[in-house]
Amino acid sequence: MTNKRWFKQSGQWALAACALGVSAISFAAPPTAAMLSNACAGCHGTNGGSAGPAMPSLAGQSKEAIVDAMKKFKSGERPSTIMGRLAKGYSDAEFAAIGDFFSAQKLHITEQTLDKARIAQGAKLQESNCGRCHIEDGKEGKDDTPAMASQWLTYLQMQMALYLNDQRKMPEKMKEKVQGLTTDELESLLHFYANVK
Ligand code: HEC
Ligand code: HEC
Repeated sequence: MTNKRWFKQSGQWALAACALGVSAISFAAPPTAAMLSNACAGCHGTNGGSAGPAMPSLAGQSKEAIVDAMKKFKSGERPSTIMGRLAKGYSDAEFAAIGDFFSAQKLHITEQTLDKARIAQGAKLQESNCGRCHIEDGKEGKDDTPAMASQWLTYLQMQMALYLNDQRKMPEKMKEKVQGLTTDELESLLHFYANVK
């Protein structure tokens, strides 16, 4: 081997080692949104489509709604069984990345048994009472309003109970509407939203 050739080869080795170094660094880089969101899949389902009635689907929720919920869980403003403890492990930047990930997923369709008469009653009440913020039949939400379409009925009932017991703080304008309705009418509204596909 001539010296010239040796230099050329060692130069290539140096380049290869350098490339390895770069990939080692990228492994140590901050986790991607998909990696962060994997930590949620055990409860919120793959890509945010929940498989269990006490766990909300996150797929298709707006970024604002997810970030707002995570901040409220972290500060303790919003009551929780699990999320408060969990949210403490994440930064605002990570909440934003997680919000981007789930808001990009398609709304998850939940198969569940619902009461037809209640769905019909809820359908008549929703536009004038809830439609201002829970827009497009709850498929979307204005600003930080969570999507309710095809959400698990059990989850919605649990959250409504927290609102009515003053454990979760209702937005003022939502409270005005909710206070004007009977518990029976509210139950029908939840059936309506859970049924939207
Ligand atoms: C061990 C189960 C579990 C894991 C893991 C989990 N969650 Fe949750 N999540 C829940 C439960 C249960 C609720 C309902 C609130 C509560 O009781 O804690 C919830 C509620 C939420 C809500 C509110 C949704 C809404 O419609 O208002 C958001 C947002 C959320 N979780 C995000 C996440 C994110 C992001 C992760 C991953 C970083 C995650 N969760 C991991 C169980 C879990
Ligand atoms: C002025 C806007 C507004 C109106 C009107 C409104 N909501 Fe909401 N709703 C919100 C916002 C914002 C949130 C999230 C608030 C929070 O952080 O707790 C929410 C959350 C909810 C949740 C919890 C969902 C979840 O994923 O955790 C339920 C259930 C709900 N609303 C039901 C209703 C019903 C039923 C009506 C009509 C009677 C209604 N809302 C009217 C703005 C509104």
